Amino acid sequence: MNERAFFAIHSALPREGPGDRASLAWAMAFARPPADGRILDAGCGPGADIPGLLDYVPRGEVVAVDLHAPFANQVRARFRGDARVTVRHGDMLAQSGPFDLIWAAGSLYAPGVEAALPVMRRMLVPGGRIVFSDLCWTGPERPPEAVDFFATEYPDMGDEGTLRTRVARAGLRFQTVCKLPPAAWEAYYGPLENRLDLLRRDLPDDPEIATQVAAHEREIAVWRAHGDAFGYLLCVTAR
Ligand SMILES: C[S@@+](CC[C@H](N)C(=O)[O-])C[C@H]1O[C@@H](n2cnc3c(N)ncnc32)[C@H](O)[C@@H]1O
Repeated sequence: MNERAFFAIHSALPREGPGDRASLAWAMAFARPPADGRILDAGCGPGADIPGLLDYVPRGEVVAVDLHAPFANQVRARFRGDARVTVRHGDMLAQSGPFDLIWAAGSLYAPGVEAALPVMRRMLVPGGRIVFSDLCWTGPERPPEAVDFFATEYPDMGDEGTLRTRVARAGLRFQTVCKLPPAAWEAYYGPLENRLDLLRRDLPDDPEIATQVAAHEREIAVWRAHGDAFGYLLCVTAR
């Protein structure tokens, strides 16, 4: 996707992947960072999870990092004045720790879960946690339309067993896992659908934007039709 199309679709969304406050609270009940702890929000996007993370480190710090400069700038503007939030534009795998908790909501697919976890483990304090969500097959069904879609969109997609293996290979303990509920998807797809509707109604004369609007609509349609077969698994792991 070119920069123009990305901006047209993604520049004003509250979040960039499925997630919600209830799921964050569920994970934090297991991860339990200290009140003065240090959290890395790895691939923070527009920063939707930062207020929720701050609730768990009221005397600590959230370091929010994203490779996409406009997201880092957006988060910097939003939390200017809150000394507990540090924003970095850069690679999540090149951050100086140590962190009590690394939170990676839907972002490890980019470097790859297998490659990212061992690097992140070294950024943790002993006993620290990595909480991440990753798109996985969640049942025995493999609807051909979804298989076809993810073959190009996420060829590395596995299932819970794959995640457990990747966590173990990284030298981490698999603490617990849940599947993100439909509300977490609606938190992402609701605003995205509104944006796509607007663009459809007033489509700029730009073939790449038209192509990307259609591609995003297909992604949502695949989830609405086959969302029982796949989902985001939210995993709590410990060093
Ligand atoms: C699916 S989005 C999720 C964003 C956010 N966590 C949320 O839930 O709204 C993934 C984010 O990871 C960022 N990203 C991808 N690779 C990265 C890397 N190596 N270092 C830092 N950020 C990265 C992308 O720019 C994007 O903002």
